[in-house]
Amino acid sequence: MPVTPPINQSVAWAKLRQHQCSTRHLHMRDLFAQDPGRFGKMHETFNGMLVDFSKNRITEDTLKLLIELAETAQLRDRMDKMRRGDKINVSENRAVLHTALRLPENASVRVDGHDVVPDIHQALGRALALAEAVNTGRHTGARGDAITDVVNIGIGGSDLGPKMVTRALEPYRQRIRVHFVANIDGSSLMEVLRQVDAAKTLFVISSKSFITPETLYNARAARAWFLQQGFAEHELARHFVAVTNNLDAAHEFGMAAENVLPMFDWVGGRYSVWSAIGLPVMCAVGAEHFRSFLAGGRAMDEHFFSTPLRHNIPVLLGLIGLWYNTFYGAETHAVIPYSHDLRYLSAHLQQLDMESNGKQTNVHGERLEFDTGAVIWGDEGVNSQHAFFQLLHQGSRLIPCDFIVPANSHSPLEKQHQILVANALAQSQALMRGKTLAEAYAELESLDSHQRDMLAPQKVFPGNRPTNTIMIDALTPFNLGMLLAMYEHKVFVQGAVWGINSFDQWGVEYGKVLAKSIEPLLGNNEAAAHDASTNALIAYYREHHEYLHQHS
Ligand code: F6P
Repeated sequence: MPVTPPINQSVAWAKLRQHQCSTRHLHMRDLFAQDPGRFGKMHETFNGMLVDFSKNRITEDTLKLLIELAETAQLRDRMDKMRRGDKINVSENRAVLHTALRLPENASVRVDGHDVVPDIHQALGRALALAEAVNTGRHTGARGDAITDVVNIGIGGSDLGPKMVTRALEPYRQRIRVHFVANIDGSSLMEVLRQVDAAKTLFVISSKSFITPETLYNARAARAWFLQQGFAEHELARHFVAVTNNLDAAHEFGMAAENVLPMFDWVGGRYSVWSAIGLPVMCAVGAEHFRSFLAGGRAMDEHFFSTPLRHNIPVLLGLIGLWYNTFYGAETHAVIPYSHDLRYLSAHLQQLDMESNGKQTNVHGERLEFDTGAVIWGDEGVNSQHAFFQLLHQGSRLIPCDFIVPANSHSPLEKQHQILVANALAQSQALMRGKTLAEAYAELESLDSHQRDMLAPQKVFPGNRPTNTIMIDALTPFNLGMLLAMYEHKVFVQGAVWGINSFDQWGVEYGKVLAKSIEPLLGNNEAAAHDASTNALIAYYREHHEYLHQHS
């Protein structure tokens, strides 16, 4: 198959490289001063969402060149291939159909000739029915108690997505308390078991592969704990369900078929919260709100698949992010939700983005000669202002940020919400305009000249630090669905332009294999035949592990 040349050998790439050289001296403060209509041309609205990308180091020409790059990469064609179920995850020979999870029942998408939409809605129906039964008390524990607590045992996409969405929709939670156990560190499970009553708890073992050690160890420990609470083996079925693509492994674990909810191999873990992996969300907020969340995702899908690139929100965010990452050498991208309920968003986006685009070879296995996936990080605003905003404002690095701002809060504290929003807008403005030395001097006129000479340079803010501000009217299930699908498609856009497969994750396998050879050495005194560092660390553990137990 003729291999298209890597994107960095394209004319569009060369033009962008040149464009960066000729525009990098421009300051946003001047761009706004020269063009009062700048915001008007550099924002998009969709279903009540406002995406303001005017505070970026771009001009109309930048956008034109970025879109030319996307067209060179045949982005639209790759989007169509994903949507219709082509096996674009070439290394695993799989389709990529998290978008199909959001389709209505009357839609149709074929994988190997088989229409998967009926399967999707059958699985969704089962999950929603179980959630409703738990929520209404119809699904009782083995002794007849209504369930009060759901414990999700899973990791990666079987944890981060459900946890982010469940916590983001806390204002919509009905009666079930939902807990998340992920780490194989026993503290994670023990912390939760101390809080729940076995008679009233449902454990959800979430694992697409059902071979993930962390999840299986925690599931076995939870099961042992449950039996230690005085329950018999035959009573487990009322308290343990599984969500997996590997029905055989779940059965081998002891799960009855009727307690196993299916998911699909053409949905990546980090894209799976829309499937039965979202069961904890359904138990928390109920079927109606979960369906609204799906509808928001579908609305963004329709926008993404039908809107011209210049007005396509995920395409714009993807290309602008690529502009900094690849042409300015910005290595990270911060996501700052000005919303306590969205405090887990950055952690979820870390897996979504970095496990998708943290790669150095393209789909053909060729090594890429340019930077790809950014390091995604962030925390809730305004807390972040008291943690790392100093570096964002006066540090030496270019760190593009997304600010996510709900116009309405679910809390009754109106004034506090107004202050929160004011901070988001002010920080974005300060990062854009900065503060000149002359402005800093002017603020210090009460000081003598020596003090002013010393202090003024410390109060200079270079500015020209880009932010996208994404405002939604409120953090509703629908808007959360739009927001999450927006980020999924942003990741797709960047991977498509770079020419990488955003849907496999071979990089997570190697460490697991090495762990298997090291772990036994931590429990015996056999000679360790690893590198000197690993051998020494094993020796230290052997000595101190015994020590800790003897002296704790
Ligand atoms: O981190 C590797 C990974 O395979 C992720 O892609 C996945 O979300 C996670 O582990 C958990 O996998 P599973 O759902 O199969 O247990």
